[in-house]
Amino acid sequence: MATAITNTATILGIDAHIIEVEADVSIGLGSFSIVGLPDGAIRESRDRIEAALNNSCGDFPIRKVIVNLAPADIRKMGTGFDLPIAMTILEASDRIPASSLRSNLIIGELSLEGKIKPIDGILAVALAAKKAGISTIIVPKENGTAAALVDDIKILVASEIQEVFNHFTGEKALPEFERVDTETVDDTSIDEYDFSDVRGQETAKRALEIAAAGKHNVLFSGPPGSGKSMLSKRMPGILPPLSFDEALEVTKIHSIAGILSKDHQLLQLRPFRNPHHSISAAGLVGGGSYPKPGEVSLAHNGVLFLDELPEFSRSILDSLRQPLEDKKVTISRANMTLTFPADYILLAAMNPCPCGYLGDSGKDCVCSASSVIKYRSKISGPMMDRIDLQIEMPQLSYDELNFSKKGETNQKIRSRVMIARSMQLERFRNSRAKYNSNMQHKDVEKHCALKKEGHDLLSSALQKFKLSSRAHDSILKVARTIADLDQHEMIETWHLAEAVNYRCLDKELNY
Ligand SMILES: Nc1ncnc2c1ncn2[C@@H]1O[C@H](COP(=O)(O)OP(=O)(O)OP(=O)(O)O)[C@@H](O)[C@H]1O
Ligand SMILES: [Mg+2]
Repeated sequence: MATAITNTATILGIDAHIIEVEADVSIGLGSFSIVGLPDGAIRESRDRIEAALNNSCGDFPIRKVIVNLAPADIRKMGTGFDLPIAMTILEASDRIPASSLRSNLIIGELSLEGKIKPIDGILAVALAAKKAGISTIIVPKENGTAAALVDDIKILVASEIQEVFNHFTGEKALPEFERVDTETVDDTSIDEYDFSDVRGQETAKRALEIAAAGKHNVLFSGPPGSGKSMLSKRMPGILPPLSFDEALEVTKIHSIAGILSKDHQLLQLRPFRNPHHSISAAGLVGGGSYPKPGEVSLAHNGVLFLDELPEFSRSILDSLRQPLEDKKVTISRANMTLTFPADYILLAAMNPCPCGYLGDSGKDCVCSASSVIKYRSKISGPMMDRIDLQIEMPQLSYDELNFSKKGETNQKIRSRVMIARSMQLERFRNSRAKYNSNMQHKDVEKHCALKKEGHDLLSSALQKFKLSSRAHDSILKVARTIADLDQHEMIETWHLAEAVNYRCLDKELNY
């Protein structure tokens, strides 16, 4: 009887942390304890492990069994600890050769009969193993595809604990998972929603192009059926394709949230998240006693679309303010602080009033002035301030809907967006900002110089519409993106004038 050690991992936030599992089997009355901050699921694993060992690899030792999970100060969560714990118990009771587990990372949940079940977040686990210099990982068979997204690491897959046991006794080696090439991008789903389907609404389309180019936030206001949802859904199609690192990050977050199949491949499309207005704050920004990423993090590197914006409760909307500024969410719990990335483009849509027809030429609005004010006041001033592009969408006439010419395709718009993005990459090579919308005030001063007429125009717009200093910077950032789309180094007056026009709701509401 002796001790045995192997490695496994626990997910904290969006990263996996390597955990050392150490078992000691010694002479004493039959007992089994797990120490080292295990959560409920791990404490329960004792029963699963005992049953799985009794039902597959022979008897669970009737000895004093202690399992220690190190480092002791990290809280361990999840069901993936079953398999590594069971294996260390087998090694510590001399069923498999001493020290054979040590250099591996083992993860997987056990059923009572000894089958290995897949776990969430395997991509993060494989990435952490690679970073820690572990060369071989043993994962549930269904998780093989997801683990294989990480290169330069040997992946062995198993579907029963007996197979892992046979591997270490030398009876039969586990098969190495064969990697398949995941380079092929599925373009069809990008173009399922194409911009060319949208008739008219040129201002709204242009706003989305600017938003895509500079990562600005957009709010559409318009009567029912004017095409707000239709346009918003098309946004991911004009964004540049995900780089490999971005795709890995997005896939990791989605796999930790448990919304991908366990044998998922790399996500190739930018996420488009469209939460319902009844969502809770924890669902939106992340949380729970074992914090999981919320919708804002699932939208990371993509688009968060809030349809029917005033239907969201004001406190929920205000919980978005910090992530919008910081591009990340920090969640504090008694013994840990976790950070989730949340860098997305916010698209929002609303009707101009509760009945939806205020300002519509075709239909009369039946709302009272007070109900309109109440409806709009759901969106607080600070929230509105963070929306760079505010667009009013009119109802299309019969002729516009049927006879206006077809618009440009996603691909054409995307190519312009990518040129503007490359100008920003060049501009921000040595800066903390990565694109126009996340410039700090000093970056704005440096990169958004105006000519004399520009200063005059901006100063009179700010005075007339009583805009804040944040709105001042926001107009300049949008003007910078418009100039980039034009491939102009200098912001011209017409770029600025267009940017001022996109704060139409601010002007109207005077928040
Ligand atoms: N500009 C347009 N070009 C082509 N079709 C359009 C256009 N606008 C609306 N439609 C058609 O009308 C349907 C409804 O549009 P959509 O759902 O985008 O409206 P909405 O503005 O989101 O309305 P609501 O305020 O009720 O949510 C679309 O699915 C589409 O078929
Ligand atoms: Mg809609």
